[in-house]
Amino acid sequence: MTIDWASLRARAKAASVRAYAPYSRYQVGAAALVDDGRVIEGCNVENASYGLTLCAECGIVSALHGSGGGRLVAVAVCAPDGRDLAPCGRCRQLFWEQGGPDLLVNERPMREWLPHAWDADELG
Ligand code: THU
Repeated sequence: MTIDWASLRARAKAASVRAYAPYSRYQVGAAALVDDGRVIEGCNVENASYGLTLCAECGIVSALHGSGGGRLVAVAVCAPDGRDLAPCGRCRQLFWEQGGPDLLVNERPMREWLPHAWDADELG
């Protein structure tokens, strides 16, 4: 499957501008290619109870299942100026579950973002 990184980054950048981030003022956007070819987007959504904040990557996972499921193939995570952002630790674990070690995030495989990963196999 061909991955158009320029297009994914453009969509992530556009999504970042829609972030609800009145507390940190730090906007994050994500766009993902799903294994059936569709592209989904997410942005961070903060809350006055700060710990309840949803990262842009959480929006991706919700959009994935809310629009029909499947597996993530590639994800771009960007700031409003278009630069790549690293996913936080929790979101690396979320991505691992939805795309596994071969999922590409900002062109780098998840096996590099989350080495020695714990996952559902451990549950037997
Ligand atoms: N944030 C994300 O959306 N993704 C990450 O991987 C790291 C952080 C958001 C959460 C919060 O709204 C803001 O960035 C500052 O932490």
